[in-house]
Amino acid sequence: MSTDHQHTPILVTGGTGTLGRPVVARLRAAGAAVRVLSRESHDAEDGVAFVTGDLAAGEGIDAAMQGVETIVHLAGSAKGDEEKARHLVKAASGAGVRHLVYISVVGADRIPVVSGVDRAMFGYFGAKLAAERVVAGSGVPWTTLRATQFHDLTLQTARQMAKLPVIPVPSGFRFQPVDTDEVAARLVELALGEPAGLVPDLAGPRAYPMADLVLDYLRAAGKHRAMLPIRVPGGAARAIRAGANLAPDRAVGRRTWEEFLAAQVADPRRQVADAALSTRTG
Ligand SMILES: NC(=O)c1ccc[n+]([C@@H]2O[C@H](COP(=O)([O-])OP(=O)(O)OC[C@H]3O[C@@H](n4cnc5c(N)ncnc54)[C@H](OP(=O)(O)O)[C@@H]3O)[C@@H](O)[C@H]2O)c1
Repeated sequence: MSTDHQHTPILVTGGTGTLGRPVVARLRAAGAAVRVLSRESHDAEDGVAFVTGDLAAGEGIDAAMQGVETIVHLAGSAKGDEEKARHLVKAASGAGVRHLVYISVVGADRIPVVSGVDRAMFGYFGAKLAAERVVAGSGVPWTTLRATQFHDLTLQTARQMAKLPVIPVPSGFRFQPVDTDEVAARLVELALGEPAGLVPDLAGPRAYPMADLVLDYLRAAGKHRAMLPIRVPGGAARAIRAGANLAPDRAVGRRTWEEFLAAQVADPRRQVADAALSTRTG
């Protein structure tokens, strides 16, 4: 018998995050009751209840799971996602949860994290793979989706890099950014369906050299910076240069990086020009 999502809340970990917010909004739009686990306390809003807990510390998780049959596990950070997953599944397997949906990253299984450099720079991929294994071995029926880097993260990275006077750009790195809301839509579809194991990857419509992504941002923001190609050592970087973080066969995302960027970043020079034009014509 399938779950009555209108009355049995879906627990969303990471429901306050970049991906979590559109997931919660889409679950609500689909008529599901939603409970969000957050480290901060929040007031309930329009069909969304919040519970306070910390997956890294293993606190508040049992209470968050009461009466829940489906969990969408999105909480994540640069480090420690394996441990967060461990704490989550320990509570879930004893609480009668029937479906655990997990978001991972394309390349988790193909980017080796072995050397010190690998761990320092790409430990995230190793932690995501370990968390995938925790989910798959939990005994709770599961679905895992691997997505490429979100447009939002790509923009955030470019913005951070643009704070430097000279931007070091790893040569040979390419990314295939995908729209966060499209990932959210797919996760909601999966959460409202039956457990499906590892489902096909979700990747953006095109792969771009990293230098092009940074240049696109600089151009859109009206900034000028010198870029310095650097060669990152180690097996993880080698795998990324070989495209292990890409999914060319799964370029099913529709919204392009260019469309996203145009909506997010206004060119200050263009704004000035537009303002001058409207003064002259207005
Ligand atoms: N960003 C990408 O390009 C990308 C690509 C593929 C997969 N993913 C995966 O997608 C997921 C969401 O990414 P995002 O970009 O939306 O992240 P984000 O904006 O940084 O949000 C992180 C979320 O995780 C929660 N969280 C972090 N540590 C927690 C803890 N110890 N206990 C409970 N909650 C915790 C935060 O909740 P509070 O702050 O409210 O506690 C927040 O809602 C992550 O699992 C990430 O690995 C991301």
